[in-house]
Formats: sequence, C-alpha cells, structure tokens
Amino acid sequence: MKPHLFIGDVQGCHDELLDLLAASGYDRAHHQLAFVGDLVNRGPKSRAVVELARRESALVVRGNHEDALLRGHSSVTMDRVHAEMDRDLIDWIRSWPIFIRTPDWILVHGGIPPGETPESADKDDPSAKRFEASESYLKAVESAEREAERAVELAHAPAGIPATGMLSVLRRDSKTQGPRLFKRYCASCHTHADSPAAPAEPSAPDLTGFGSRAWIAGLLDPAKIDGPQYFGGTQKHKGGEMSEFVKEQKPVLA
Ligand code: HEC
Repeated sequence: MKPHLFIGDVQGCHDELLDLLAASGYDRAHHQLAFVGDLVNRGPKSRAVVELARRESALVVRGNHEDALLRGHSSVTMDRVHAEMDRDLIDWIRSWPIFIRTPDWILVHGGIPPGETPESADKDDPSAKRFEASESYLKAVESAEREAERAVELAHAPAGIPATGMLSVLRRDSKTQGPRLFKRYCASCHTHADSPAAPAEPSAPDLTGFGSRAWIAGLLDPAKIDGPQYFGGTQKHKGGEMSEFVKEQKPVLA
C-alpha cells in the first residue's frame, strides 16, 4: 500500500494546499492523498480544492462545511462556495462518506463522540445529527465572519487601527453592536430583517427601515397602516385612532 498523506481542513485554501503538497514531496505515483473533511469554506478557491481531490483520486470524508453546503445552508461564505460549484461536483461531494475505516486507521472529520464507534454514530442520518450540533456553531462562525469583515472594513477607514486594537473599535461600532443590542433588548417583541433573533410570536411592529423615508410614506398609507411594520403586529393599536385617522385621510394623503 502506498503511504498516505492525510490533510485536514483545507477550507478552500487551494494555493496553500499546493504549497503544502510541494513541501511534503507529494507524488501521486508513490503517495495516496486523504482529506479529513472541510475541503470547502472561507478560502477563495473551494472548487479548485474539490477538483484537485477528484483529480488525485484522494480519499475524502464529509466535514461539517460539506454538510452545510449539501443542506443549502445560507451564509455569506456558503452562498459563495455554492456559486463556485456545479451540479456534478455537488453530486460527487454528496457521495463522500462520513468516515472511512481500515484496519489501521479511521478517517473522520471532527472525531467520534465518546463511547460511540463511527458505525454507531452513523446509524441514523448522521449528517442530520451532526448538522444540528453544528448549526449553532455555524451561526456563531457566520457572525464571527461578519465581524471579521467589518473589522477589515473599519481598519481601512482613515482612522486606521488604534493602539488599543480593532476589538476596541468593534466595541464602539454601531453596526456591530446594533444587532447584538437588538437581540438582547428588543427581539422578544420586535422583528427586524437584520436581527440574529426573532420572537416566536411578534407582539410589536417590524422595525426594518424604521424612520426611513419609505417607512414614513408607509405610515401614511392606508394599505399599510395595519400591516406588520406599523400597527398590525400590536395588540393595542391595531385598528386604533391613528390607524382610523390614516384610513380616513386617504383622499388628502394620496
Ligand atoms: C415587551 C415588548 C417590547 C420590547 C422588549 C420592545 N418594544 Fe418597542 N414596541 C413595543 C410595542 C407593543 C410597540 C407598539 C406600540 C406603539 O406603537 O406605541 C413598540 C413600538 C416601538 C417603536 C415604534 C414603532 C412604530 O411603528 O410606531 C419603536 C421604534 C420601538 N418600539 C423600538 C424598540 C427598541 C429599539 C427596543 C429595544 C431596545 C424595543 N422597542 C423593545 C413593544 C416592545
């Protein structure tokens, strides 16, 4: 058997993968490549990594990012990865197993839960189970990615990076803090398109675009006044005086 070269978590970093293969003296005639999942993700060339794996007849197992891709999980990164792929590659990724067992080793992404074997962990739709476990993780990754992108954006601003570091800038950045504060103090009643959390049953107006020109125009629109952005979602004000007023003023406001 050819010696195996195991590589984990390439995450779309194709050029670095080439560097690694060169540095390790990889030669397909003499070595077997094996990828430990998460070939795709934030790096710029997920597709090229997957194509390389196929070209080299590498052993591959699915990681949580392949699971996310196959399940159509939407995030800035996953939408980009998805756009890079085509049907054929997606179908190939779908055929990857969760684990590969040989007498000498088990190839699996992210380990096996204590007390389980890969076979028992794989019993009932393992990717579903693992996806559930990783969904909150993916959400956290996504918000960390957003913050990282925002930090880069702010670092390019004229003020640059202060001596206290970018974290201190993010702490004062309303675009970063807004959704957090909203989640903590407002999302038990209100919805908002940019909010990371929403109430099960909204009891207050949807605040997306609140105070904008379009919002004010809608406030004076009899067709919208009882809608979710205005008084439709509220217990007290639906069909109340303000709503009646707007509807009566129709000819004047139109
Ligand atoms: C306990 C529920 C609750 C929480 C929490 C809450 N609100 Fe409200 N809010 C309401 C209700 C109900 C209304 C509608 C009553 C009204 O329009 O006077 C409202 C109205 C508003 C309005 C006016 C919207 C409109 O269409 O007139 C704004 C703006 C607003 N809230 C912002 C916030 C913000 C920001 C937070 C978090 C800091 C927050 N609210 C937290 C219940 C809540």
